[in-house]
Amino acid sequence: QNYTVQDYFNRPLRDLRISVTDKCNFRCTYCMPAEIFGPDFPFLKKSELLTYEEIERLSKIFIQSLGVRKIRITGGEPLMRKDLATLIHHLSQIEGGVDIAMTTNGVLLPQYAKELKEAGLQRVSISLDSLEDETFGKINGRGVSVSAVLDGIDAAEKAGLGIKINMVVKRGMNEHEVLPMAQYFRKRGHIIRFIEFMDVGNSNNWNLDDVYSKKQIIDTIHKRMPLEPIKPNYVGEVATRYRYVGSDKEIGVISSVSDAFCSSCNRARLAANGTLYTCLFASKGHDLRELLRTNKSDIDLEHAIIEIWNGRKDKYSVDRNNQTQSVRKKIEMSHIGG
Ligand code: GTP
Ligand code: 5AD
Ligand code: SF4
Ligand code: SF4
Repeated sequence: QNYTVQDYFNRPLRDLRISVTDKCNFRCTYCMPAEIFGPDFPFLKKSELLTYEEIERLSKIFIQSLGVRKIRITGGEPLMRKDLATLIHHLSQIEGGVDIAMTTNGVLLPQYAKELKEAGLQRVSISLDSLEDETFGKINGRGVSVSAVLDGIDAAEKAGLGIKINMVVKRGMNEHEVLPMAQYFRKRGHIIRFIEFMDVGNSNNWNLDDVYSKKQIIDTIHKRMPLEPIKPNYVGEVATRYRYVGSDKEIGVISSVSDAFCSSCNRARLAANGTLYTCLFASKGHDLRELLRTNKSDIDLEHAIIEIWNGRKDKYSVDRNNQTQSVRKKIEMSHIGG
């Protein structure tokens, strides 16, 4: 079926990001600061989470009737959810052939990489913000060492998974590591994407002054290793790509703050509790779990989602630049999934 739904600005729906848990074994300062996500934080209860069967049912509709071509499993930390390979396996069986990827902090990959690959996972984005234990331990809020993540990268390589590295760059936190990280992963042969610190949620104390911009990132690297821009792999790619001149090695920069990319945004986000969000910065979502649990048919679900997508007007990152940092309530990254 070639049916494509479009939103208010004619953007199609291509990419579904599914958060399978709001829990994480890290407490990154820019995402789940330990002061806020403490021992008493009300994480979702098991009964509130979509079951794997419910996720599969929705995914099938998104893929076969709504035009989704890529599913990305996120969290929190997705590998904190039990038997994730089972879900991956079922998703990979859905006819329509989607690209299945996962975003993870990597530390559980030595345990799971092989079975995930066998289940049908194609690619992982692994987050790593520093190559120094002291800095990294502070950023992840749990004192986790760099080698724990590097072991995860090794395991993903060994399993044959596609790998990209994500580094959030924040001024005063790790901007001095932009060059060392670029050098390390150039040598190792993995694409690294540098992500501007974003104002997701209301917990991370975001401030424009703390953003280390795309331009600064590129200038820093370009001085030592000349870069040239290259074309996107696909329409709506989040990262802008650059190649090291005279080589086939590349990097990416995700510039949600200094250079928004909403005009091509084709992503929907399904939170672990079944709420569908049409923007990373949404303050409100649409409850699909209620529909799943009240005897609705697949066609009912399809129509409900079409209606949501048709009404979508989100372009937060574009609008952000025209207003002062808003104090409105936003969903946390760990809930909505990076
Ligand atoms: P590829 O399929 O490899 O292109 O993956 P991706 O870049 O879409 O996925 P990944 O999870 O690795 O994305 C990297 C980061 O980009 C995310 O963790 C977010 O921080 C950011 N990001 C992804 N999608 C959006 C979006 O729609 N809006 C904004 N503002 N940021 C996004
Ligand atoms: N700004 C930018 N990136 C963020 N991530 C989490 N919170 C933020 C933020 N405030 C990134 C993580 C990971 C992905 C899930 O999202 O580093 O790469
Ligand atoms: Fe966990 Fe990823 Fe958020 Fe860090 S950025 S706290 S690893 S979900
Ligand atoms: Fe898409 Fe919202 Fe991000 Fe813009 S801010 S790219 S609309 S998720």
